[in-house]
Amino acid sequence: MSSTAPRTRRTAPAIRGHKAHDGAEPLVMLTAYDAPGARIADEAGVDMILVGDSLAMVVLGYADTLQVTTADIAHHTAAVARAKPSCLIVADLPWMSYHVSPADTLANASLLIRAGAQAVKLEGGRKRLPMVEALVDAEIPVMGHLGLTPQSVHAMGGFKVQGRSTEAAMELVADAKALAHAGCFAIVLEGVPDEVARLVTAAVDVPTIGIGAGPHCDGQVLVFHDVLGIEDRIAPKFVRRYASLKDDAVAAVAHYAADVRGGQFPAAAESYHLAAEVAETLGLYGSGAAAR
Ligand code: KIV
Repeated sequence: MSSTAPRTRRTAPAIRGHKAHDGAEPLVMLTAYDAPGARIADEAGVDMILVGDSLAMVVLGYADTLQVTTADIAHHTAAVARAKPSCLIVADLPWMSYHVSPADTLANASLLIRAGAQAVKLEGGRKRLPMVEALVDAEIPVMGHLGLTPQSVHAMGGFKVQGRSTEAAMELVADAKALAHAGCFAIVLEGVPDEVARLVTAAVDVPTIGIGAGPHCDGQVLVFHDVLGIEDRIAPKFVRRYASLKDDAVAAVAHYAADVRGGQFPAAAESYHLAAEVAETLGLYGSGAAAR
C-alpha cells in the first residue's frame, strides 16, 4: 500500500487495544534507523517503526546488540523523527540503560523521548517490573520484549529459540501477564515456538508482536535490512525477503563505476554549460568544450 493521502497518526493507546482475535488486521512493525528508512516504512503504511538496537548489527557492523548506547539510539531516533512519519515511533532502550535502577531508566528513556520517540521498548519479564512501572508512571508508553531477548545473548548461551519446555512456556505466559498488568501497551515475542506465542497471545489483553514466533501473534515485526535484502549474509528461518536491494545496489554501483571508467559519465545533459557569449570570450569555441 502506498498512498499520498494523510494517514491517521498511530498512538500507543490505539495500539494497546488492537487484538487480532477481535477481528482486527495484524499490526505491522518494521525497524528503521534513519529518515529515508522512516519515509519508506511510513509510505508503505506500517503501524509502528522500531528504532531497534539491531542498529548495532545491521547498521554499525557490530556482532551483537550489546555495543549500542542510549546516545546511539537517540541519534538514530532523531533522524527517524525528522521524517515525521505518521506511524508510532518506538525506540529501544539498549543494554545497561534500564538494568541498574528506575531512576537511571527514566533518565535514559527521557533522552529517547526527547529525540522523538513516542514509546520505548525494553527486554525481560518480571525482573524488569520496577523499571516498567517507573516509566509508565512518568507517562512513557512501554513495549515489552520476551522470548529470545538479544541483549541476553551471553546469559542464554547464544541466539536460541526460547520457551521450548512446559516450564519455560509457563514462565513466558507469567512474564507477559506481569508486563501487561504493569502497563506495557504491547509485547514483542521473539524466537519462540508458534504454539507458545499463541498461548501468550491468548493470555494477555495487549497485542503481541511476533518475530520468529509464528502467525498467531497480534502483529509482526521484521528488520528493515532483512525485509529489503540489504543484509544478505545471514538469513534466519523467520525472515522473508521482499527485495534484493543489496544485489541491486552492487549492480548499480558497478554500472556507475564502468560508466565513469569508460568515459560515459557524465554526459552533456548531466553537465553545466557556459552561455555562448562567455564561452566565446574565453576562446572556448572549437576546443571541444564549446558551450551548448
Ligand atoms: O532491535 C530490534 O530490531 C528488535 C526487533 C528484533 C524486535 O528488537
